[in-house]
Amino acid sequence: MIKRQQSDNIPIIKEEALSKIRIAHSTVELEEIYSFYLGRKGILRNFLITIGQFPAAKRPDYARNIHEAIKAIDMAARDKRGQLLLVEIKNKRSSFDITMPGIAVKRGHLHPLTLVERKIEHIFNSMGFGIIEGPEIEDAWHNFDALNIPPDHPARELWDTFWIKSKISGRAGKAPKSKLLLRTHTSPMQIRYMETHQPPFKIIVPGKAYRFEATDASHEFQFNQIEGLMVGEDVSVANFKFVVQAFFEHFFGKEINIRLRASYFPFTEPSFEVDIRCLFCSGRGCSICARSGWLEMGGAGMVHREVFKAVKYDVSRVQGFAFGFGLERLAMMKYKIPDVRLFNSGDIQLSQQF
Ligand code: DAH
Repeated sequence: MIKRQQSDNIPIIKEEALSKIRIAHSTVELEEIYSFYLGRKGILRNFLITIGQFPAAKRPDYARNIHEAIKAIDMAARDKRGQLLLVEIKNKRSSFDITMPGIAVKRGHLHPLTLVERKIEHIFNSMGFGIIEGPEIEDAWHNFDALNIPPDHPARELWDTFWIKSKISGRAGKAPKSKLLLRTHTSPMQIRYMETHQPPFKIIVPGKAYRFEATDASHEFQFNQIEGLMVGEDVSVANFKFVVQAFFEHFFGKEINIRLRASYFPFTEPSFEVDIRCLFCSGRGCSICARSGWLEMGGAGMVHREVFKAVKYDVSRVQGFAFGFGLERLAMMKYKIPDVRLFNSGDIQLSQQF
């Protein structure tokens, strides 16, 4: 049996609901009020369920009161909903000003080393060079022996090596079995290419190389090189000079002076160090060229006959040049980047400039 006060409460509940609706600030708040009174578990719905338990004589009045309250609250909520929606839509519109400049979509950047590598590939490609890639895990035979750096040769000390434990490689009938390592230069690709191709040809090999050494402003234990190799019946030093000069001029976008300095590499004879006239002081001497007026760009030379023998070429019929340049060094010179470690720092302030 429902208590008497409950039916007396209805007008009070109704007034309370109506005043709450009147001052509601948002449609969200309004819907909360609505469901508190008229929702599936709302107060007035509960009353409806109990009509049947009310004394028969009072039942019609009680029911009418509830229905009236529901109707009044429902109508008030409907009106209020309309008003609040209008305000909310208007507010939303006013925050959308079509005359405001748009927000630029953030786009990714290619890493400066990628840009430089692509540029180099494009230049060599336009001179007819093929672009070859090869394995970073290499065997000692390709990385050293076949390049005329036999075991125990002091020249192996020139390349501080990351050796790979235990695994031994070697293809039947081809290279003898030897230890694995992270290639210390891209030169082993000279061997791999010549093992499977006959001259004449000209290729470049961009790729990563590794050295077991401490990092500083100009050294990283992982870095990139561009290897070059051109072999034919009469490829000469003059051809090399022409090719590197054309390359540097395209790469730096200005006239370049080249100097070849005698040097030593086991896989070339003669060997040179390739210098270019300092880009920053035009040869007068500055801090970047250590006052020498020249910048060292990389090693090169005429392919050693022992290298040709390792790939079973007829040394009386072929000759060619090879070179190896550091990609990071080229990028640093082109864009005046002072520290090689910036390339792998993940600092987008660097890459955003390109
Ligand atoms: N592989 C050498 C290095 O990493 C660079 C080099 C020198 C490559 C002379 C060559 C070359 O092809 O002819 O130190």
